[in-house]
Amino acid sequence: MSILDVTLEKLAVEIPGATEILYRFKLDYKQHHSLPLRDAITEYRADKQSVIEEFERLEIRGKIRPDFSQYSEKDLVLYIVTHYHNVHRKQLPELIRLASTVEKEWGHDPLCPVGLSQCIRNILEDTLAHMDKEEKTLFPMIIQSNWDMAANCMAIFQFEHGEHVRSLKKLQRSAHNFQLPTNACSHWKALYMGLQAFITTMRDHIHLEDTTLFARMPDYLSLSSRS
Ligand SMILES: [Fe+2]
Ligand SMILES: [Fe+2]
Repeated sequence: MSILDVTLEKLAVEIPGATEILYRFKLDYKQHHSLPLRDAITEYRADKQSVIEEFERLEIRGKIRPDFSQYSEKDLVLYIVTHYHNVHRKQLPELIRLASTVEKEWGHDPLCPVGLSQCIRNILEDTLAHMDKEEKTLFPMIIQSNWDMAANCMAIFQFEHGEHVRSLKKLQRSAHNFQLPTNACSHWKALYMGLQAFITTMRDHIHLEDTTLFARMPDYLSLSSRS
């Protein structure tokens, strides 16, 4: 079955990241939830090839897991920026948009995750600051094998990773452990699926940096036991 035959609602609630693409191409999955993607593209005069390429990119991102032992530090950094930093930069604004919509439309429901959009905004702010700092300071040091300087600031990044993990737990609590009412709309379903995908991506990201990138530093084990 081609992705073009799948309805907008199915895409929105079953593929993490799909709502961001649908929203960007102005394919209204709320209003035309039962429309297959092919018909929606025609209806909204979207660029078919570009939409397909965006979905293919999402699929590839979820499947490929390279053998990092073959990667140089530069390749590893490039992989992290492309597959995690740039992905979070897209994921989080979309999750804020979905959470704001759900809070506005479902404020009367006891399961409504009141305050969730603000919780995601805080995470966005912290994550952007952390990633910018990595890209401007730590990563260039690692690429240039400037290990002494990298070792000096590594404890700060490890500490912030711990803070991020705590924020992810708070995020899950704010979303009532992703418990949905039986009559939840597609926005709400997409929000919780997207949040779970974000949490998985963020955990993978932190794990890869802590256990693979930082571990390239000489004396890493003695350094990390000190932090
Ligand atoms: Fe990072
Ligand atoms: Fe990091």
